Amino acid sequence: MRHAGIVGVGMYVPPGTLTNRDLERMVDTSDEWIRQRTGIEERHIADPEVGSSDLAVQAAKAALADAGCGTEDLDLILVATTTPDQPFPTTAVMVQKGLEAWRAGAVDVGATCSGFIYGLSLAGALIEAGRMERVLVIGAETLSRLTNWEDRSTCVLFGDGAGAVVVQAVSEGGLRAFELGADGRGTEFLNAWVGGFKRPVTADLLDSPNRFINMTGREVFKFAVRTMEESVRRVADRAWGSLEMDLLVPHQANARIIEAVGQRLGVADKALINIQRYGNTSAASIPIALTEAKASGRLRPGMRVVLTGFGGGFTYAGAALEWV
Ligand SMILES: CC(C)(COP(=O)(O)OP(=O)(O)OC[C@H]1O[C@@H](n2cnc3c(N)ncnc32)[C@H](O)[C@@H]1OP(=O)(O)O)[C@@H](O)C(=O)NCCC(=O)NCCS
Repeated sequence: MRHAGIVGVGMYVPPGTLTNRDLERMVDTSDEWIRQRTGIEERHIADPEVGSSDLAVQAAKAALADAGCGTEDLDLILVATTTPDQPFPTTAVMVQKGLEAWRAGAVDVGATCSGFIYGLSLAGALIEAGRMERVLVIGAETLSRLTNWEDRSTCVLFGDGAGAVVVQAVSEGGLRAFELGADGRGTEFLNAWVGGFKRPVTADLLDSPNRFINMTGREVFKFAVRTMEESVRRVADRAWGSLEMDLLVPHQANARIIEAVGQRLGVADKALINIQRYGNTSAASIPIALTEAKASGRLRPGMRVVLTGFGGGFTYAGAALEWV
């Protein structure tokens, strides 16, 4: 069987940062509370004219350079985002334009914070089936636009950024197992109800909190810990028949969630945490973490890596792979 693997990684975050101290001046919160409850110290925020596709293009260029391939080599651009530039054209098409990758197809994947793993799974399947040779998978978000800056329970959590990977056929290692899941019973716990086409932003809804992220933090926390633990067990078992892994790369939503999952699985020392610098960048958090792990030498060829994520919906997803 033909195997697909990640052969290049890249990331980009906008230069502007918002620290916990900055947030102390905006809402009734404290640096201490945010660090203790979430692990976050600062997050990056895009300038008003910058969209998710702009961040995605920069991350994509870095991933292509890392893979040593050009834009003409791409068959498909897949962008996972919860914050598309506009209703249409899709963010993926905007990225195709930005990269001048004229040969590539382009499609968005909407699975909130699990979107990157969903996209990676689709890319892997297309390559393994022999339909495509090279796919760019990007997670890109400008969540600062979907954030209610008057709601202290959510505005301290999120940040903007993008991460990208190049996927192609590989002779050794590569993608081994996936799980893509959803639980629609969770819609009430994490959502933004206004701003689509069922409930457009009308004048009377302009100031509605439902235009922004609404969250019942404790319910999301419980779902995240339980689901990520179970999902990691299943994908690792399917790939290798054991939980032995070299690196666990979880979606970065809260350091306490990651620590709890790591402890339950007995792999706390293998779990990557970089949320302190970026906050929760939704679909971008896993490819950003992969890029940092590779750059720091924490990710090396042959390593067993498990990716795990969850998000609004609820959605969840896991992947087991051997680093190329
Ligand atoms: C949001 C989260 C950090 C809150 O932490 P928590 O320990 O559950 O805290 P609670 O929601 O129980 O709130 C505890 C208290 O802190 C207060 N609080 C909430 N946000 C605060 C902030 N930024 N600063 C100070 N106090 C805050 C609450 O009002 C509450 O006060 P009360 O006890 O007087 O009512 C946590 O629930 C979480 O991370 N959930 C998952 C969120 C997530 O992953 N979302 C993204 C999914 S992709």
